[in-house]
Amino acid sequence: MTENEILKLLSEVRHPARGDRSVTELGMVNNIEIQNGGVRVTLGFPKRRDPLAEYLIGACRAALIRGGVKDPVVDTVVLEDAAPKKKGLEFDTECLRNVRHIIGVASGKGGVGKSTVAVNLACALARLGYKVGLADADVYGPSVPLMTGTEGASPMAEEIDGKELIIPLEKYGVKWMSIGYFAERGQALIWRGPMACNALKQMILQVKWGVLDFLLIDMPPGTGDIHISLLQDIPVEGALLVTTPQEVALSDVEKGANMFRNKGIDRPIFGLVENMAWFTPAEHPDEKYYIFGKDGGARMADDLGIELLGRIPLVQSIRESGDSGEPAALGTRPDAQAFLDLAGRLAHKLG
Ligand SMILES: Nc1ncnc2c1ncn2[C@@H]1O[C@H](COP(=O)(O)OP(=O)(O)O)[C@@H](O)[C@H]1O
Ligand SMILES: [Mg+2]
Repeated sequence: MTENEILKLLSEVRHPARGDRSVTELGMVNNIEIQNGGVRVTLGFPKRRDPLAEYLIGACRAALIRGGVKDPVVDTVVLEDAAPKKKGLEFDTECLRNVRHIIGVASGKGGVGKSTVAVNLACALARLGYKVGLADADVYGPSVPLMTGTEGASPMAEEIDGKELIIPLEKYGVKWMSIGYFAERGQALIWRGPMACNALKQMILQVKWGVLDFLLIDMPPGTGDIHISLLQDIPVEGALLVTTPQEVALSDVEKGANMFRNKGIDRPIFGLVENMAWFTPAEHPDEKYYIFGKDGGARMADDLGIELLGRIPLVQSIRESGDSGEPAALGTRPDAQAFLDLAGRLAHKLG
């Protein structure tokens, strides 16, 4: 058990008299001791002990036991200083200090081309002259290494001000970071809960990003706890939602939108990207076949009050370039133009 894991368990314990906020959020976890497998947690109370102290001690013990800690000890200390010492997760957002825009690329479900859009958008923004980074936060299926031809790379770490920072890989003028660089090729990533969350946060908060105009985050598909935790700890400014045009995708996009509009998260949605908006066969580059229906993306955007920022065609070359590690946005074909248009609109929207 690490301190972070213990904090994660304690973050489930809510203080009923303090707006139902968690003891970690309230900065009440004053000390954590881990020795020979034993865990002792000290809760700090300002000035005098809280009438709910016993309840909180019990609730903390229960949460730790549920998380697999044997016989945890929870005690309390009354802090003379009225403001309890805040002890959050080890992470801070220092390495994002010089990043102007942090944008989450999200989708309600997998397979809609979220990573394809994120990777190509990053390359397109770089082509427009911006400084760009992309963090692949899809713990369950990191695809940035394959899509950028950086598989097998192992990023170096550097100690800066007593802190280990991972150096992102640079290729195509973009700084790439992916949890995939830290897993064996083909090894399934079966991390769950807090561990997946911490690994993810590390991919974003312990990286030497330096000065960036845009940091894109390829979020995991779906809308679960991991997303909420990510959005709570990482200063994501807003979101891009990726969808395909089918009618049935609407409810997924809606879930994605609600995740960002959720009370307590409340981040703007910069736009919707309609991927696979039409099909263009390689041998007939001027033709458009609306195989998933025409203008589905525009209708969805209207329904949800989101701007339609981009429309990307379904073309074989986008898939092929993804598989070969040379993003389509770097080329000169019409599909490259679709990503450049999206990049231009996003940059314009964010000033
Ligand atoms: N516009 C497109 N044209 C052709 N193939 C695409 C397009 N968008 C995505 N794909 C392909 O569809 C598959 C899933 O895309 P991916 O970006 O991995 O989806 P997600 O990240 O949403 O799971 C990949 O093989 C990708 O190359
Ligand atoms: Mg993906």
